[in-house]
Amino acid sequence: MQKLVITGGRSLKGEVQASGAKNAALPLLAAALLTDEEMTFLNVPDLADVKTMLKLLEQLGCQISRDGHKVVISAREVLSTVAPYELVKTMRASILVLCPLVARFGHAKVSLPGGCAIGARPVDQHIKGLKAFGTEVSIDHGYVKADAKELVGTRIITDMVTVTGTENLLMAATLAKGRTVLENAAREPEVVDLAKCLKAMGANISGDGTDRIIVEGVEKLHGCTYKVMPDRIEVGSFLVAAAITGGEVTVKDCNPADLEAVIVKLREAGADIKTSPDSIHIKAQGRLKPVNIRTAPFPAFPTDMQAQFMALNALANGSSQITETIFENRFMHVPELQRLGADIAIDGHTAMVNGVDKLLGAPLMATDLRASAALVIAALAAEGESTVDRIYHLDRGYEKMEEKLRSLGANIIRRFDK
Ligand code: EPZ
Repeated sequence: MQKLVITGGRSLKGEVQASGAKNAALPLLAAALLTDEEMTFLNVPDLADVKTMLKLLEQLGCQISRDGHKVVISAREVLSTVAPYELVKTMRASILVLCPLVARFGHAKVSLPGGCAIGARPVDQHIKGLKAFGTEVSIDHGYVKADAKELVGTRIITDMVTVTGTENLLMAATLAKGRTVLENAAREPEVVDLAKCLKAMGANISGDGTDRIIVEGVEKLHGCTYKVMPDRIEVGSFLVAAAITGGEVTVKDCNPADLEAVIVKLREAGADIKTSPDSIHIKAQGRLKPVNIRTAPFPAFPTDMQAQFMALNALANGSSQITETIFENRFMHVPELQRLGADIAIDGHTAMVNGVDKLLGAPLMATDLRASAALVIAALAAEGESTVDRIYHLDRGYEKMEEKLRSLGANIIRRFDK
């Protein structure tokens, strides 16, 4: 089992480069199924979840070659349209192969992803939308079975804003017959990144980035070369790490426009932030002020930054409230932060945080991807040594996190215990 050993108390200083976005790379790689021509992706992050998606695509028959952050995929010879439970259960985003497979091949059998630590996370909206295109969909022994002679464009209103739901249905719409209108669509930058790639493949899409996406179906999509956008949640996590340690850090190769709500909250907390078109500079001095957070779909404050901000509030000079409106169980970092001495009480979907003067290092256990980032961030500011166990959660979504933090002066190492 691997764990991180962190000795807190150092202010982070220097420059760090953002990696490609996990939550953009996953739908982009799935989009390769929509064409029989070669797709080349650049800036693909080296993450466990990306490896899982590539393994799934290979299992479907795709030819894949990888050279560092460059991935080349050919879905010319897709031999199977079955996504097995063994793979899907390790990464729910595998559901993103469902609609591309049906759109290109007319059928698919994809295991239901099942829940995960942060919630039940059903895929009923993906299924409802696929049915609206005229697909026969049934749930059979834990699998979604889908068959369609052809997809016919339609108007779909999802019950809630769903990021991968929007992405799945957007991919289906590109090859459907006629016009599709996706209402209540997700506006996340990762959805826009997918739309940009699909347009480069020849899709006819407008309104991406708004809550109403219009797609005119085309006969066929062609290959292209596409660069994955920077990971805004990784960037936000480094900004919070710099803030909590009273440091001064520049994050390069990122897009500040993807993180406006987070930057506003960091400024409210008292951090000094300057932005350029492709970098963010943060300087934090002294104790920060508490900030109230309410997560919501883009452009509001992202749920994927909620745990990291709770760590920041745990040391702030006063009390704050954090309300999680997207997932039903995304406070599992709270008991671990309490082990460091944080003063947090949960009341339903709201956590009340009373900032304390200091946190004391302790053995910690990661429970999910963003909770593990929050524990690392808190440990960087805690007095003494902390260990973070089960960091396979962290490796799902952060590329070389301890190396990047070490380059900023953090005292952090990865230990391989027997
Ligand atoms: C995406 O998950 C991200 N993952 C998540 O990031 C992110 O937290 C989430 O969007 C919200 O921004 C990827 O993009 C791979 P949703 P997704 O569908 O698409 C409910 C991370 O840490 N819902 O937008 O699965 C759902 O239960 C991960 O990187 C349904 O009820 O999230 C949730 O309450 C964690 N039925 C809400 O909608 C559906 O069919 C939003 O979920 C779909 C969703």
